Amino acid sequence: MKIAIGSDHGGFELKENLKRLITELGHEVKDCGCHSSESTDYPIYGKAVAELVMAGAVDSGILICGTGIGMSMVANRFPGIRAALCHELYTARMSRAHNDANILCIGARVTGPGLAEEMVKVWLSTPFEGGRHLRRISLFDRKG
Ligand code: RB5
Repeated sequence: MKIAIGSDHGGFELKENLKRLITELGHEVKDCGCHSSESTDYPIYGKAVAELVMAGAVDSGILICGTGIGMSMVANRFPGIRAALCHELYTARMSRAHNDANILCIGARVTGPGLAEEMVKVWLSTPFEGGRHLRRISLFDRKG
């Protein structure tokens, strides 16, 4: 799969670790920045990853900031984006199985690197269950 990844300074170190992991798992990584731990603004990178996912240029995305909150708020403003802020393995798995999340958000100041790696492995390998969950996610954008 092609995976876009982005972070601000708070998530930079974790992003670099996760890039290595994702490549080792056999996926292609598109790094949307940032490129150092110098202070920067998370919406720049949240937008860049969300736009690639929305356009179908990548299969899914991973966004990391200090808490993961800002990144999830930014990404979910884009049509068709289902960004899930996850903190442990259960929510990481369920965000794929039930919500068909297409962006995983992680807080690097909340979640340690070992757990973050396990979350990414679970998230990338869990399929959407479809069925009633497809009906539910298709209601997200229904008017009225
Ligand atoms: C940056 O200090 C911090 O606000 C950012 O990484 C993120 O946690 C925002 O939601």
